[in-house]
Amino acid sequence: MAKRDHTFVCQSCGAVYSRWQGKCDACGAWNTIAEEVAVAAAVPAAQRSSRKGRAFALESLEGVGNPTPRLVCGIGELDRVAGGGFVPGSILLIGGDPGIGKSTLLVQASAALATRGLNVVYVSGEEAVDQVRMRAQRLGLAGAKVGLAAETNAENILATLAGGPPVHVVVIDSIQTMWSDSVESAPGTVTQVRTSAQLLVRYAKQTGACVILVGHVTKDGQIAGPRVVEHMVDAVFSFEGDGGHQFRVLRAQKNRFGPTDEIGVFEMTGGGLKEVANPSELFLSNRDLGAPGTAVFAGMEGTRPVLVEIQALVAPSSLGTPRRAVVGWDPNRLSMVLAVLDARCGVRLGGHDVYLNVAGGFRIAEPAADLAVAAALVSSLTGAPLPADAVYFGEASLTGAVRQVSQAPARLKEAAKLGFARAVIPAGGQDGSTPPVEVDAISSLAQLVASIAARAPRKTAPRPAQGAAGGGDLRPAIATAGSDDYSD
Ligand code: TYD
Ligand code: MG
Repeated sequence: MAKRDHTFVCQSCGAVYSRWQGKCDACGAWNTIAEEVAVAAAVPAAQRSSRKGRAFALESLEGVGNPTPRLVCGIGELDRVAGGGFVPGSILLIGGDPGIGKSTLLVQASAALATRGLNVVYVSGEEAVDQVRMRAQRLGLAGAKVGLAAETNAENILATLAGGPPVHVVVIDSIQTMWSDSVESAPGTVTQVRTSAQLLVRYAKQTGACVILVGHVTKDGQIAGPRVVEHMVDAVFSFEGDGGHQFRVLRAQKNRFGPTDEIGVFEMTGGGLKEVANPSELFLSNRDLGAPGTAVFAGMEGTRPVLVEIQALVAPSSLGTPRRAVVGWDPNRLSMVLAVLDARCGVRLGGHDVYLNVAGGFRIAEPAADLAVAAALVSSLTGAPLPADAVYFGEASLTGAVRQVSQAPARLKEAAKLGFARAVIPAGGQDGSTPPVEVDAISSLAQLVASIAARAPRKTAPRPAQGAAGGGDLRPAIATAGSDDYSD
């Protein structure tokens, strides 16, 4: 006998409560707890204890595995993030803001897989078949043999898949629209999403098909509702970008079958998503050369070097608590760099608003950007533009020292490839080989500050006739004590 249970489930994290409450104790979200009816299949106690487990043979780690080849779609940026193609029998979740291009990406991937002779089914729970068709036509992919359906019932989907020829790849767009007969909650609730996802996970593991789920993202960037689904799937990718920019980044957050630090870069064009083979060129286009407050950071994304421009604006604040606004980087990391600049280099920014932006809407996670951020900040403060042909990388330590970061040769090589002539990097760590660009090795942030301040427009108060054009001279903000401390 099935037993009906009224439970209260947090729609954000899936925590279950016996009573309604305003705040979820598990994830701290407000107003996310909704009543759901769960039908628990109660197993009689007598039956439960009488059933004995079935013994099974254990296997060794070095058994002769015969892995099925990965399903390569030919869209290089997608294949690389997936770890060299999709793994048969795996299930993956692609999350992203509405309108970012998830459906476009998956229609293109489905068509590419189908043209390679694989059997692909695309199930849309959000759009009608005609709408998906129209999109495919617009992308010039109408000829690909993809099985299309507009359906939201998980059981119906599985019955359809079971009835046809073996399927290699199933795309479900999106998991939030799916519902199952076996639970009574409304579609879109955590219980429904989790149950549908469970059915699809089982289908993937039993049949060896690769299932790709689309998931929506909440305002704070989490896969909406079911964080629980993230634990059930083999891989979680996020598709990022912002409306104002044409490029999109596919990032692996979790991947049981591949690396999680790879990114795939695409450009949204009138004809769908195009791969961007060299993202640095894209991120560095439209640079405002010669303006103070910008520094080029030579970063790494997985195995690939990516050069991006970091922009800083430091302006005297009229507020009691100056503003610190960051786009594309960790705000805590900025606070740390500001504190180190203040305490170790005498760069006083306590009375200044600080704005930091990673150009092009890119997001950096590496601490290696510290040096480039510090350079951009000091450059903006002093009004001294940094050399246009220099890149920066290095991690700042709380002592004011600059620490080495991984893969310096790859970063330098990429900088040379893109026409940069010099690099400001942490001292030491050079392997003796001749670097492809001129290297300016520094050991402390104070050294960096001193070299930028030396380029700043001179303070000319006593002789106003000379060099007055510089305007906005903020040199006094850098205490001269800094250079005495680090006079090496
Ligand atoms: P879509 O894939 O529907 O986004 P999602 O599934 O993540 O919600 O993408 C919709 C956006 O992409 C829409 O704003 C229009 C734009 N777009 C293009 O610019 N070019 C194209 O060729 C296509 C198909 C969409
Ligand atoms: Mg969509």
